[in-house]
Amino acid sequence: MTMRTMVVGGGAREHALVAALARDPECSELVCVPGNAGIAAEPGTRCVAADVGDPRALLALAESEAVDFTVVGPELPLARGVADAFGAAGRELFGPTGAAARLESSKAFAKAFMQRHGIPTARHAVCTSEREACEAVAGDRFGFPVVVKADGLAAGKGVTVAADRTAAVAAVREAMVARRFGDAGSRVVIEECLVGPEVSFFVVSDGRRALPLPAAQDYKRVADGDRGPNTGGMGAFAPTPLLTPDLERRVMREIVTPAIEGMRADGHEYRGVLYVGLMLTSAGPRVIEFNVRFGDPEAQVVLPMIESGLAGALRAAARGNLDGVSWRVTGDPHVGVVVASGGYPGAYAAGRVIAGLDAAADVPGVRIVHAGTRRQDGEIVTSGGRVLTVVARGGSFGQAIDRAYEAVDRISFDGSFARRDIGRAVR
Ligand code: AMP
Ligand code: GLY
Repeated sequence: MTMRTMVVGGGAREHALVAALARDPECSELVCVPGNAGIAAEPGTRCVAADVGDPRALLALAESEAVDFTVVGPELPLARGVADAFGAAGRELFGPTGAAARLESSKAFAKAFMQRHGIPTARHAVCTSEREACEAVAGDRFGFPVVVKADGLAAGKGVTVAADRTAAVAAVREAMVARRFGDAGSRVVIEECLVGPEVSFFVVSDGRRALPLPAAQDYKRVADGDRGPNTGGMGAFAPTPLLTPDLERRVMREIVTPAIEGMRADGHEYRGVLYVGLMLTSAGPRVIEFNVRFGDPEAQVVLPMIESGLAGALRAAARGNLDGVSWRVTGDPHVGVVVASGGYPGAYAAGRVIAGLDAAADVPGVRIVHAGTRRQDGEIVTSGGRVLTVVARGGSFGQAIDRAYEAVDRISFDGSFARRDIGRAVR
């Protein structure tokens, strides 16, 4: 049976989802809300405008478009209960309920959950006042550097790794007094600083079982050599050799299984993708964060590795029964390089005409994934900070990297830039 499928979101992650679903024979027709210029060009796909942060608007759209199945990209609609709204109306949707999405939308919830279920993570304190937080960072309770996190959703900007007490107090005040993150900072979590390489590990769960995806590594800083401010992500690669088969089994046993079982035991059965942000410390893998969605830019390299069975697996997970479901995954290296607008992650210009997209897509093994793009007067122009992810598949990491940069170099717009060292560590 084929299904009309709706994808919620309009970034590169959603383009990767749409591209993966569009080549799945189980999806007959795709609607994307709101989508972007690249998504609109995928075969059998239409983009429709709606407020992605409004669960009722999304439900109304699913009804008027008569979609059979909905896949949610970003965390905001999940945190606001889009899965609950669809569930109450008897519509199938892939993504956790609002209560389950607190694994991402409240760091205090996530930490208490991990503590309760014995899931290894950094030692922490939840603080509800500035005084309490300043006391927590004084003395040697956590040592330095110490990590200060706004409790709620802060678009990836709510975490400070503070080198000393002065910096930690400044971060606390920024969140709790200046209220830089609004209500998201009315509670803060103070954490011991862990050391080690970071890996993004995704599993698709039906509430009882979990299907793992190849693990990825992403690059958060804007400049080569991990310098400059944090961004939404400047590139990624998969599969990372850091997560060996033995280590993956350990992560499944010590982290993923207790998390899925713990959520069910707590009455918040987790159906959706669980993003486990791991730090591989000398004492073993530790959870840095849980997210309730695919990562961006990790999705752009991981989703194309699922060669068949994605749509069926997502729908089976949404229905709560992955028994007997599998997918075919390639082990070929995938490398994704983000092309961004000059000035990003600060202020940047929009409306720049993008040249060379077709020539870039002609490089063997390359796929151009759109984020901040729109069509204007027959041309594709920029409309965001992160504009494109150029994704290349290769027989080796070296080949994938060379292909990705050959394609990046064929693309140009006024002010465009990309990191030049994506994947270098595994080359
Ligand atoms: P989060 O939003 O929780 O993923 O944090 C953003 C980034 O801050 C992570 O990707 C890490 O690089 C860093 N970070 C968060 N928590 C810790 C920690 N306990 N120790 C060291 N680095 C951390
Ligand atoms: N790449 C990090 C994230 O999606 O949160």
